[in-house]
Amino acid sequence: MSDQASRPVTVKAVQDGPLQIKGSFRLLDPTGEEYDLEGRRVVLLCRCGRSGDQPFCDASHRATDFRSDDRPVCAADAG
Ligand code: FES
Repeated sequence: MSDQASRPVTVKAVQDGPLQIKGSFRLLDPTGEEYDLEGRRVVLLCRCGRSGDQPFCDASHRATDFRSDDRPVCAADAG
């Protein structure tokens, strides 16, 4: 097992931008087909909805007014 594969996956909500994912994980489309992430150490997933390369971020969010105000909320606190 590679050093990267043994680390837990880290997901970071980038301010006013994508979700940045580091670590070893699988990404599936709605049919269950797996995206080829071979060789990618960092994956950026779009959350503004404007990327032309969904589900990946293509930096289109920079040309929009997409804003995020992310703060962790425990599931018990949310409901
Ligand atoms: S978050 Fe970057 S294009 Fe959507």
